[in-house]
Order: sequence, then C-alpha cells, then structure tokens
Amino acid sequence: MVEILKLNEISNMVSNILTPDKYSITADAKDPKAIILRSFSMHDYNMPSSVVAVARAGAGVNNIPIDAMTQKGVCVFNTPGANANAVKELVIFALLVASRKIYEGINWTQNLDKDGAVAKQVEKGKKAFVGQEIFGKTLGIVGLGAIGKLVANAVLALGMKVIAYDPFVTSTDLAIELTSNINDVYAKSDYITLHVPATPQTKNSINKDSIALMKDGVRIINLARGELVNNDDIKQAIADKKVAKYVTDLPNDDILGVEGIITIPHLGASTAEAEDNCAVMAANQLKDFLENGNIVNSVNFPKLQVERVGNYRVCVISNDIENILSKVSASLKNIVGISSATRGNICYVIADLSSNADATAIESIKEDALSVRVL
Ligand code: MLT
Repeated sequence: MVEILKLNEISNMVSNILTPDKYSITADAKDPKAIILRSFSMHDYNMPSSVVAVARAGAGVNNIPIDAMTQKGVCVFNTPGANANAVKELVIFALLVASRKIYEGINWTQNLDKDGAVAKQVEKGKKAFVGQEIFGKTLGIVGLGAIGKLVANAVLALGMKVIAYDPFVTSTDLAIELTSNINDVYAKSDYITLHVPATPQTKNSINKDSIALMKDGVRIINLARGELVNNDDIKQAIADKKVAKYVTDLPNDDILGVEGIITIPHLGASTAEAEDNCAVMAANQLKDFLENGNIVNSVNFPKLQVERVGNYRVCVISNDIENILSKVSASLKNIVGISSATRGNICYVIADLSSNADATAIESIKEDALSVRVL
C-alpha cells in the first residue's frame, strides 16, 4: 500500500485516481511517498524523508519551500488552470462590486428599520448608490495565463476593451491589445486585475509609483496574492481618491475596514467544481509520477513523459546537468530506452531497462543525484 499524506482536506475525487486498492490517503500517514495539500504552509514543516513528491491542488505554490524541495530531489506539482473558471467568475463579481455600490447598498438595506415601509425607503434611498457601468470601459489584465485569458474572453463579451501585459506572452489570438510595457496597462485602464504569482519581480508592484501612472478613479482587483499590492500606498491612493475601489480576496489587518476597499475571504477557487478539478489534476500527476516517473506541471523539475518500453524504470534527478546522462548510460548495462530533460540547473533522466537494475550501479548513480527511484 502506498501512503499519501493529505495536509488539507481534499475532494474525495482523488480516490477515483489514487484508488484504495493501492493507495491509502490519510492525514496521519507515517511513511508517505507523497503529500497532497491545498494552502497548508510547509515552510516550517518537518517533512518525512520518505516523500518524493508534493502536489498542490491549486495554482500558487508560495506555501511550499520550492528550493528546499528541489535540493531534496522532491518533485513539486501544481494544477494550473484547474480553478481558473472559478477565479474568473469571482473577477466578474469584483468588477461589478467595484463599479456599482452593491456592497454599500446591501449593507444599507440590511440595516433598514422594518417599519412596514421598507419598499418606500429603498426607492427613496437608492440615489445614494448610483454606480457606473463596465460596458465600454478598459480592463487592464496583468498576467495572461489560464485565468487572465478566461477573464479577457468574459469581459469582451460584456462589452469591455482589454489591454494585457504578460512578460511570457508575446502574441494572442484574443481581440485585445497585448503590450510589452506594463506602464501601458497602468495608463490606459479604467480597471486593473492582477493574475500573477507573488515573486520578487511582482511583489509590491502596485505601489505609489505604479499608481501614479494610472487614471484617476481607477479600480483595482487583486484575487491573486496579497503581497502584490503595497497596503500603505493603496490606502493613501484611496484616501486621495486616485483609486476609486480596491477589491481583494486576500485581506489582512492593514486593509480591513477601510472605506473604498472591499475585502472578501480567499474565495477565488472555492467552488465545488474547482476543488474537484484541482484534486483530480493533482492526483493524476502524482499517480503518473509515482508509477511511471512522468512529470507534468512540476514547478521545480523539467517536463518529461515517456511511454515505458522495458519492465523496469530508473528515474534520476540531478543537478550535475553536464554529466548525469552519460553517468546513467554508462552505469546501467541493460538500457532499452533513455530520455532526459533539463530545467535550469536540474536534469531529469528516465532509463527503461530490460531487467532489474544492478544495485551497485544504482548506488553509484546516487552519488551524483538528488534522487534516484527504481520503478
Ligand atoms: C490558487 O493558488 O490556486 C488560488 O489562489 C486558490 C488557492 O490558493 O487555493
């Protein structure tokens, strides 16, 4: 039985893939081969040494110490796109709540006196809640990945114009303006939505300098990561009426209760459908890695998927990218197929063998590897 440790509750759909005849998925696994999690922070976590893979059912991986995992030869997966539709739908809500005084109006009506004349009170009071339409306005999208693309398509259908920036995207077939200069997004947008991970390059990118380039009255949506936005600067910009609204599902102590900032819990991916999709994708990726060594959607190791051509398979992760392929080829005498892929300073080698690998050869490969598995 292969033990999988779950560090968060995960959709039961994982058991359709990591089936109970072969896998036991529990919150107290003692000797787990892999970990599956959602937002549990692994930064101060003492991970069992038996673990060879970690799968996050979600896109962001800032709760996982990626470099430390890489050094241990542990493959980290995420599930890009699996919750993109759920996030897109919350962006549409955020656009509307940033435009129309829906939130303020709901609070107001909830607190009306039930004096038998509520209908009259709401008709009289509604003039305080006049908003603006999104039709014809420009949405700036920072990050044109799975979520950004879905958002672009959805708002085009609602009559918005779109300008997008993504340093990794140089062309698109969407009917949008794609710019290579993020300042164009800041300058031209009535609304800006962020869909990038929190990296040293993106953290704090919405700050007083970038806000100064934006249109007066811009509305900013952040359902990505809290660290992208400088709290002090956004609060000042709201107070100065430079930014009309800031909507985020990543609130913290600094921005709670500030007029003009609409905070919601981290609900972007919190739909039954997204939770199932992420769990299924994470489980499929783990299974293929555990059983066949194949890697898809890893955030630290190269992509490599190879059909098995022998009865035994040796999988080697190494940071000796110059020599590891020749070392594996020279050490294993019964190779019937060999493939490799590199990513940064990591090389991954899959060797298929006609008969079981010689133990001495495996020990010798281990000297130059971060991890060696015989499957
Ligand atoms: C993600 O990273 O996929 C989203 O922020 C949702 C989540 O953290 O679960």
